Order: sequence, then C-alpha cells, then structure tokens
Amino acid sequence: MLSNLPLLPQQASTAAQDVDAFFYFLVGVSAFFALLIATLLIYFAIKYRRRSESDRPHAIEGALQLELLWTLIPFGLTMVMFVWSAAIYVKLQRPPDDAIQVFAVGKQWMWKLQHIEGQREINELHVPVGRPVKLTMTSEDVIHSFYVPAFRIKQDVLPGRYTTTWFQATKPGTYHLFCTEYCGTQHSGMIGSVIVMEPAEFATWLSGGVKQSLASAGETLFQQLGCSTCHLDQGTGRGPVLTGLLGKQVQLNNGTTLVADETYVRESILNPQAKIVAGYQPIMPTFKGLVSEEQLLQLIAYIKAKGASGGDGAAAAEQPPGG
Ligand code: CUA
Repeated sequence: MLSNLPLLPQQASTAAQDVDAFFYFLVGVSAFFALLIATLLIYFAIKYRRRSESDRPHAIEGALQLELLWTLIPFGLTMVMFVWSAAIYVKLQRPPDDAIQVFAVGKQWMWKLQHIEGQREINELHVPVGRPVKLTMTSEDVIHSFYVPAFRIKQDVLPGRYTTTWFQATKPGTYHLFCTEYCGTQHSGMIGSVIVMEPAEFATWLSGGVKQSLASAGETLFQQLGCSTCHLDQGTGRGPVLTGLLGKQVQLNNGTTLVADETYVRESILNPQAKIVAGYQPIMPTFKGLVSEEQLLQLIAYIKAKGASGGDGAAAAEQPPGG
C-alpha cells in the first residue's frame, strides 16, 4: 500500500515488506503520540493559564485509573513492537537450509566476493532471483558493513571472525551495495552493485570461464600447505580428523567442548594453540601471514565439502547449488 512512496528505497527482497511494515508502524505510533502530546500541551496551557495575581493551583491527588491507563497502553504498544521486531530479526538471522553460499571479504576499500563454484568478483555480486543467498563475511583490516538498502539487510563485517546474513531477491535488476561503517578515507567510495538475474541467465554467468571451485581451490591449498600430512582421514595422523568437522561437537584438552563452526576453523589455522583438541599435542605451526582471508574461506569450503561427501570434498562441491 505504501510501497509507492518515494521515502524508502524500492522493495526487492522477501524481507523488505516485513521490515517496511514494522517501520511504518513505528513511525505511525511516534507521530500519533507526538501530535497528541503537542496538542494537549497547547490546550492545557491555555485552559489552565493563570487568570489573576491571586490565582493558586489546587493540590492534585493521585488518580489510579489514569495512572493505569498511561502505564498499560504504552506497555502494550512496546510489547507489540518487541514481539514483532524480534520475529523479523529471528527470520533475518536464520538463512534457509537451501540457501546458495557466497563468501565476502571486505578490505579498504572494496568488496571481494567468491562463489562456491569458483567465480570471483570485486564490488559486484551476481545472484539469481527467487533463491535465498547466504553470505559468510569477514574483513582483512577494519570493520566494514554490508548494506543493500533494496533488500533491507545490513550486517557488520568484522576482522577476525565470520558474520552472516541472507536475502532472497524478488525481482531482477541492479541494486546498490554500500559499506555503512566508517572505515577510512575512501569509505564513501566502498560501493558496489548486487546484480539479480533470471535463474537461467545466472547459470550461464556462473559457468563462464571458471577454473576451480572454491572447495577444490581449498583442496589444492590443503596439499600445498602440508595440512594433509597431519590431518589424515583415518584418525592416525598427528592432527585431528577434519572430515565432517563443521557442526560437530569437539572435546578440548581443557575439558570443555564446543561446536565446530567457521570461526573455530579459522582460528585453528591462524592461532592453532588457542584451542587444542583432546588427545592431540600442541604442535601445529601458525599459518598467520601465509594464507589470505580468501584462502581461509577456500580451506573452510574444502573442509565443509569433505564432510558433505564423506571424503572426496572437491567432487561434492562441483555439484550445482542445492542440487
Ligand atoms: Cu568499508 Cu566503510
């Protein structure tokens, strides 16, 4: 109904209507009370003005009904805001299981994006219309923020850890991508586009001129860096088995357990001594400075793919997304 107002960017994702509806509700409630208070202020100022020098106001007793009224109505309204916004937030924080995976690295001052199939792009992100897309993001230097107004998504991108966001585009087109965290002198130039394509068009784009999938690039690195000499699949190596690691419980030598996620794997590559798996020695050297953020994502894609196929990771990753 209000989508044609030029106040907001166009709606081009499944989240846009939900976010906008809530936004209009907040604006409506605020405008209603701002007007009400301003009107009453003027009305009372006139009605109860001082009429003569000897005019003295009466003492005012409490009024239980009035107090309940102006406590319960705002309470009810804020609870509606809380439940409504929390529902939208939870939805925006949970990518659907069948989402296409894309990896993003922010750096001063550009966005570098990699697709599972191996396509890499800078300041441009090509995606198909009507499919959920999950972004796993990190930064090479300072905090950036990934913002696509038409999709109503904004997510900080932090050095040293992974953050995620997702969207499902609803119409083909080219949309603004902004960095929305001040990140240095060229912050305002850290802009790009998200290009939403018809599925067939996207498939053609995706298959154009690709050399290596993300996972198979990761597999090459895994061999080159010598990871494969210690991390054997049979559990007989000097390092823990990595097949099927992501999402699994890991027992550490200090007695605690954690669920292996991308951030844990990344830390274990850059700072191996931080968390030692129970039953293993702290002998792994650090790979800090030897692998870039993009290569870390390739290694993680390989380890993930290993788990998905029960061994031969690269082969599994060649399959079309969601296929
Ligand atoms: Cu990157 Cu602002």
